[in-house]
Order: sequence, then C-alpha cells, then structure tokens
Amino acid sequence: MTDDAPARPTSPTPARLVDVASTVNGRETRHRLDARTLLVHLIREHERLTGTHIGCDTSNCGACTVLLDGEAIKSCTVLAVQADGHEITTVEGLAGPYDGFTAVQEGFRQCHGLQCGYCTPGMVMAATGLLAVNSDPSEQEIRASLEGNICRCTGYQMIVDSVRWAAEHGSDQPNTTG
Ligand code: FES
Ligand code: FES
Repeated sequence: MTDDAPARPTSPTPARLVDVASTVNGRETRHRLDARTLLVHLIREHERLTGTHIGCDTSNCGACTVLLDGEAIKSCTVLAVQADGHEITTVEGLAGPYDGFTAVQEGFRQCHGLQCGYCTPGMVMAATGLLAVNSDPSEQEIRASLEGNICRCTGYQMIVDSVRWAAEHGSDQPNTTG
C-alpha cells in the first residue's frame, strides 16, 4: 500500500434520521427513522403489525400489500418517509359485518381462498383495493389486479372466487377507526 492510497471508510454511512408522521389504521403515529427505512419495516417493526408479511426480496410476491390512501401498494417498494402525512391501512385495520370481518375476508373463508395463509393478508388488501375502485370486477379484472400477488400453495381459482364472492355480497371499505 502506498502512502497516497485513498483512505477507506471504516464504518457504514451514518443514518440520516427523518420524522415520519402518518395515520396507521386510523391512529396517528410518529417515528424517527433512518431515511432508508422501508414502509414494510415501519409497519412490522415499529408498529408491530405483523399481519403484513415479507415473502421476497425482489418486490414480486405481494405479501406486503397494504393500502396507502386507499390504494393497494407493495410496502416493500415504498420508503417509510414517502408515507409521511398519508394514511396506511393494514390487514389489522379491516373490520366488517361478517363476525368482524369484511366481505373480502369472509369471501376467502367461504370459498377456501387460502391454505397456509402466508399470502392471504396481501391478497386481501389487494382485493380490497380493487373493490374500492371497481365494485363488480370481472374474473379477468380480478386476475389482472392480483397479478402482483403470488400464492405458493392454493389454486388461484379459489382466490378469484373469493373476490367474486365479496363483490356479490357487497364490497366494503376498511374500517380504520383504530
Ligand atoms: S415482500 Fe413485498 S413484494 Fe414480496
Ligand atoms: S395460501 Fe399459502 S401462500 Fe397462499
């Protein structure tokens, strides 16, 4: 090594901290976070809402789907700071008239839309986002809307049937009263 070799950093780049204030399932929250924190980590690690799953590190599986201002998004593709000032709904924020479940959740129960359940919160949130903008989707529209959500164990047909069941029994908006 020569004397004029550039000095190497001895530690990782220090975190830049940001304040993130958002509404999670109807409750106002505030966290000081590393600016690089992903929304899925804000939800799981700081809010302790572990119904939002992580199923990949390639943004492919959709297990991390939540609603951001009512729109279904993959929370591993969004920085937590991007949710500052916005409203997040996770699967824990859903509530409805079917023993406390929404029509979408009940549809999955009625139509056997799950087996291990790992993908289910993401599927339910994606379907909830779809029905919020299209209360009577065709099978094709449901399939297109769930294209970004992978289920490793059940037949997709039963998931599509579950969403159709929800559409036929009245789509419902998430209850985010906390
Ligand atoms: S964990 Fe977000 S898409 Fe897989
Ligand atoms: S029910 Fe097991 S991954 Fe979908």
